[in-house]
Amino acid sequence: MTTNAEQIELLRDRIRYHEERYYVLDDPEISDAEFDALMRRLDELEAIHLDLITPDSPTQRVAGRPVEGFESVEHASPMLSLDNAYSEDEMRAFDERVRKSLEGASGGELVDDLVPYVAELKVDGLSIALTYRHGLLTRGVTRGDGVRGEDVTSNVRAIRAIPLKLKTDLPVGLEIRGEVYLPRRIFNRINREREEIGEPLFANPRNAAAGTIRNLDPRLVKERGLSVFFYQAVQIDSEAAPLIQLRSHDRMLAQLREWGLPVESNWRSCSGIDEVLAFCAEWADKRQSLGFETDGVVAKVSERQLRDELGSTSKFPRWAIAFKFPAEQATTRLIKIEVNVGRTGAVTPYAVLEPVRLAGSTISMATLHNADEVARKDFRVGDIVLIEKGGDVIPKVIKPVLGRRATGSDAPRRFVMPTWCPVCETALERAGDEVVWRCPNVTCPAKIRRALQHFAARGAMNIEGMGESLIDQLIEKGLVIDCADLYSLTAETLEGLERMGKKSAANVMGQLERSKVNELWRLLFGVGIRHVGVSAARVLTERFGSLDALIGASLDELEAVPDVGPVVAASVRSFFDEPSNRRLFERMRKVGFRLEEPNAVGGEMTNEARLAGQTFVFTGRLESQSRDEARRAIESRGGKVVSSVSRKTSGVVAGTDPGNTLANAETLGVKVLTEADFLELLS
Ligand code: IVH
Repeated sequence: MTTNAEQIELLRDRIRYHEERYYVLDDPEISDAEFDALMRRLDELEAIHLDLITPDSPTQRVAGRPVEGFESVEHASPMLSLDNAYSEDEMRAFDERVRKSLEGASGGELVDDLVPYVAELKVDGLSIALTYRHGLLTRGVTRGDGVRGEDVTSNVRAIRAIPLKLKTDLPVGLEIRGEVYLPRRIFNRINREREEIGEPLFANPRNAAAGTIRNLDPRLVKERGLSVFFYQAVQIDSEAAPLIQLRSHDRMLAQLREWGLPVESNWRSCSGIDEVLAFCAEWADKRQSLGFETDGVVAKVSERQLRDELGSTSKFPRWAIAFKFPAEQATTRLIKIEVNVGRTGAVTPYAVLEPVRLAGSTISMATLHNADEVARKDFRVGDIVLIEKGGDVIPKVIKPVLGRRATGSDAPRRFVMPTWCPVCETALERAGDEVVWRCPNVTCPAKIRRALQHFAARGAMNIEGMGESLIDQLIEKGLVIDCADLYSLTAETLEGLERMGKKSAANVMGQLERSKVNELWRLLFGVGIRHVGVSAARVLTERFGSLDALIGASLDELEAVPDVGPVVAASVRSFFDEPSNRRLFERMRKVGFRLEEPNAVGGEMTNEARLAGQTFVFTGRLESQSRDEARRAIESRGGKVVSSVSRKTSGVVAGTDPGNTLANAETLGVKVLTEADFLELLS
């Protein structure tokens, strides 16, 4: 018979094993759903045996509330940077310096011409230093200025690729260094979502990763799906006997893997600089096939002893160099320049290009930022232009190729910025020193369209079924002008629209109804206050707890909220100073929005506790929301969701096509809730 403690520890080991298969070995043995089931099982056991919860349990990645800020702490030893090389010549010059310096160290004797190097891909993320003591993760610090960084331990713990516990319990402290990054797939998804809701895009995965690691809410970090590769380990208790005697970099990388830490697998041992250069050339071509962004290759002298002889300058080690891949460029024709009207009315020119392949994708459009930029760079319609994709995903139109500009009757035409909105024909305005022209018409259909798309988007109010075509019809028919109007729609009105059957209309109505119980931050973000993104909306609602408190907040009170700077604070203040905006929320309140954040620091606590101590089981499919959302809705009210029903279960929520659970609930006499009952329970 195993004890509860043993059973829990076995389960944790199984979960850690599968985390390693997934994140370190990139070779999972079970599906995500099976993994989630293991986690749920552990969650349930720990909920019964609270005294057995340990900080290294896989369930304890995110604990507690958002942090107030990050403390500045000193690194065990300075985190140096790398010198850069941009060409083959510069790489050869580096190799020459290495060989010269080693010759000097060996008393003028010539060292072997072929220096042993390791070539690694340079991961485009941000450096991180982790401390493990007795094999347990105790600290995570950003690079900062190299001497001091920010203590982001709570966020580092939320990264699932980082083990909370090493596979070996070492009696010394270790500092492990590596690069946190955002996988390309996730980065693209985030940017697609941001585009959908009209949020500014992250320029590159590095910016997205850096923004995430400095976010005050570890829950967001966990959701974002950051990953990590490690490349260095240093023993930090120098008085203890040296435990990790790693003579070469290849040994170091193998050791990191043995501890269960992810290491980028494409590294190669190279004998001499020619082999390093071959590696660089190979990956300059192949890098688009990787799941992460790389901006070059790091060549490192492999032998520990040679590294010691070479030493470091105050900034860089003399034994390593970063070869930077050249930015990828192409030329193509600028077919026309069009303008786009954004959610805030900003009218911006963009280039329509003859489609061209560049760095793994086909480019047919690129922003031109603003009219001044077009004039300054003298882009003309019909020009051949140079485009470039560097570290940033969004291609840049660099310049017109003047040598290829046609003359005479074929000469390209200058762009003239329209003075009227291309959609509603209102005269455009430009405020003070702004470079951007805006359409001031509050009922401009282009602005309304963007605003409603933003409101309904997944990252905001998440109203499924409220897609572009439905929004366009609603605007065309004059049924909605702002987001509050959506809540006056009826099923009958929707049924009368194109491509809307009875069922879809009912679904949309259900979605709108459900959206009324969304967290307040979603609504605040959804209405589209300038400069208020998801994180600002979250911290504001957490801090003030209710819309009334937020409306009543002074500029100083707003600025005092961590992560809310003067620009956001001023924008929020001026938004609520506008009576029509306050009226918008009053209309929302009338149709049933609570306008309170159940989990807020200063808010009412009644909602938080309402389902405390109650457990629920789901069976079948819910129409109004995903299982995940439903689980969060219960958890945010203090309840718990478990996977199997027992006599103690408070309720079974039965959706469409329920499984055995429903029959079991009936046998055990457990209360069964329909989806409608469930929505009522939440509201
Ligand atoms: S070694 C003392 N290896 O690049 C040398 N750095 O531009 C420590 N980086 O600060 C760095 N991939 O953040 C090393 N395979 C790799 C790397 C890598 C990315 C980053 C690291 C460093 C920066 C220098």
